[in-house]
Amino acid sequence: MAMATLARSVLVTGSNRGIGLELVRQLAASPQPPQHIFATCRDATGPRGKTLQELAARHPNIKLIQLDTVDLPSIRGAVQAVETHLEGQGLNLLINNAGVGSQATLQSVDAQEMLATFAVNVVGPLQVAKEFLPLLEKAAKDAGTEGLSCSRAAIINVSSKVGSIGLCLGVLEAPMYPYRASKAAQNMVTRCLAAELRDKGILCAAIHPGWVKTDMGTEQAPMTVERSMQGILEVLGILSQETCGAFLDWEGNHLPW
Ligand SMILES: NC(=O)c1ccc[n+]([C@@H]2O[C@H](COP(=O)([O-])OP(=O)(O)OC[C@H]3O[C@@H](n4cnc5c(N)ncnc54)[C@H](OP(=O)(O)O)[C@@H]3O)[C@@H](O)[C@H]2O)c1
Repeated sequence: MAMATLARSVLVTGSNRGIGLELVRQLAASPQPPQHIFATCRDATGPRGKTLQELAARHPNIKLIQLDTVDLPSIRGAVQAVETHLEGQGLNLLINNAGVGSQATLQSVDAQEMLATFAVNVVGPLQVAKEFLPLLEKAAKDAGTEGLSCSRAAIINVSSKVGSIGLCLGVLEAPMYPYRASKAAQNMVTRCLAAELRDKGILCAAIHPGWVKTDMGTEQAPMTVERSMQGILEVLGILSQETCGAFLDWEGNHLPW
């Protein structure tokens, strides 16, 4: 299925590897790519950003921007850089993808591991959303449409099924206290944002990518990052006021919170 333009401008956090990198790759390769793809990562100019630098060199619409999601001056610097590129336009779609895993069990978990995981998986997406809000509000206002969509203005938080309290999957096999608790908390952030920003024309939703082969997902994961991102981009394309505040997987199935 040929994809229509998802949004005029898209920003992805943690886009130097894994899911974020593949999202940027597929957005850039789509038949009608966004005018601006803000590919952000911690190490934009260094070795960790090398693959992304090479990709950006082949696609003039990819703008590589430094953004450490737990560093407020870095977030604010990214907002300024994005604003300059947008030349008076708003930002349509913010994808909070950056995240960290943690395998800590009840036996091995400590306060530092809990807090470090919460910093990246909960505080990061919230602060990034907060700082980019004026640009998202601008996009929502300028769209000249009524309904909610990713092409108008949206915040998508990449979540995980293992953070679902309703499902509470495989605790004994995969306790992962810091990771699970952080994704459950991130889900509440998504719900609160969805409720608060709906009337401003900004859609918010949580997406579970499936278990995917990345550094975090490991080689054991059953799904390739290519397949998962194809699904996610299709799902993003059909989000509307009905799915605002929803928790969906890469195939568009609803998950319990
Ligand atoms: N893979 C799966 O099976 C799976 C399943 C469910 C949900 N998810 C979620 O999907 C998202 C992406 O995961 P992934 O599998 O692609 O993981 P990954 O391969 O480990 O990549 C994580 C990305 O997040 C970035 N990151 C971490 N901390 C950051 C910070 N403070 N500021 C900016 N970027 C930061 C990393 O950048 P550096 O290179 O600088 O470290 C990297 O680009 C995460 O939110 C994860 O929880 C993944």
